[in-house]
Amino acid sequence: MIKGVNSAPTKASLSSKKAPGKGALKLEKSTQKAPAAEMPQSDLNSANTTSTHITVLLEEAVHALAIKSNGTYVDGTFGRGGHSKKILAQLDLSGRLIAFDRDVSAVAAGKEIQDLRFSMVHSHFAGMKNKLGEMGISKVDGILLDLGISSPQIDEGDRGFSFRFDAPLDMRMDQTSGRTAEEFLAVTTEKELAEVIKNYGEERFAKQIARAIITERNDGRAITTTGQLTKVVAGAVTRHEPGQNPATRTFQALRIFVNQELEELSLTLPQCLALLAPGGRLAVISFHSLEDRMVKQFIRDQANCDDLPSNFPVRAADLPQPKMISVGKTIKPNAAEIKRNVRSRSAVMRVAERTHVV
Ligand SMILES: C[S@@+](CC[C@H](N)C(=O)[O-])C[C@H]1O[C@@H](n2cnc3c(N)ncnc32)[C@H](O)[C@@H]1O
Repeated sequence: MIKGVNSAPTKASLSSKKAPGKGALKLEKSTQKAPAAEMPQSDLNSANTTSTHITVLLEEAVHALAIKSNGTYVDGTFGRGGHSKKILAQLDLSGRLIAFDRDVSAVAAGKEIQDLRFSMVHSHFAGMKNKLGEMGISKVDGILLDLGISSPQIDEGDRGFSFRFDAPLDMRMDQTSGRTAEEFLAVTTEKELAEVIKNYGEERFAKQIARAIITERNDGRAITTTGQLTKVVAGAVTRHEPGQNPATRTFQALRIFVNQELEELSLTLPQCLALLAPGGRLAVISFHSLEDRMVKQFIRDQANCDDLPSNFPVRAADLPQPKMISVGKTIKPNAAEIKRNVRSRSAVMRVAERTHVV
């Protein structure tokens, strides 16, 4: 098992700060967009038409929450507030919206919203239940999670998320805590690295890539930049999807690992169940199959509690009742949205409603 998987982020993993001065290499115009000809086909590294975030499934996600104007709502992934602003617009004076983001720039953008019904919290969403508890909130009417990273995070080249820019290999959404990708690559073993790349990147050349990275490190050329990583991976991958940069899957894997994205989700879904009032809605937008599978399974587990043998001697009324029911089918962006925002194309939204069962 990969360290940190299926477990809460450890205190140590969340507290180690990036060493000062590290990664202070020259950036090649890291804040500029790459010319179109260099653009890979992967969703995340595809260029956006603006430097801000284009909200994905905006109408659909807010509609899915079935907003009650006096309700209390949580946006677990504020980003640049596209969903939050639309939710706020549907609340009356007694409604409330609490937004979370682990990214300092996102939090700064949220703090610009001057609205007494709105609170912006700098926290990972796995801290949701505690933070809401501190605010005296134990039940909410809807929770939205729009997973992954935002366009500003990708397009600000010095964050290290994109192979379109040469930059220090950071990749943390929350740059105030945790281990950077560079720090991870400096200490990991070949076996662990191969597992990370295989499990989180679903990369068939994971072993070869891990070997190449560790060989570089052992030869005194530790990987500290996105440019170096892209080059080493390209040398280890002999076949890749047409139009896709060979490093796409490795970047995805490292990002998911560094930010403990799957652990975050698995810690948060049960909190959503506990926090939602009867009739409250959960809407989750995922961008890759690892997340979507987890959401699908979670909703299914809450909904299917009658999987006892058919001849089990129990009256129908005594059967355990579902704590959540799935609402509608999965929702994906339509062709017009994908045309407007190519990064939306891998999005999948699942919606569930909390029942009265405790
Ligand atoms: C796809 S963007 C959300 C965009 C937003 N819905 C909007 O319309 O602007 C994802 C955001 O969630 C944040 N994020 C991702 N995982 C997080 C986590 N575990 N805890 C808190 N914030 C997280 C990222 O920092 C990023 O700002």
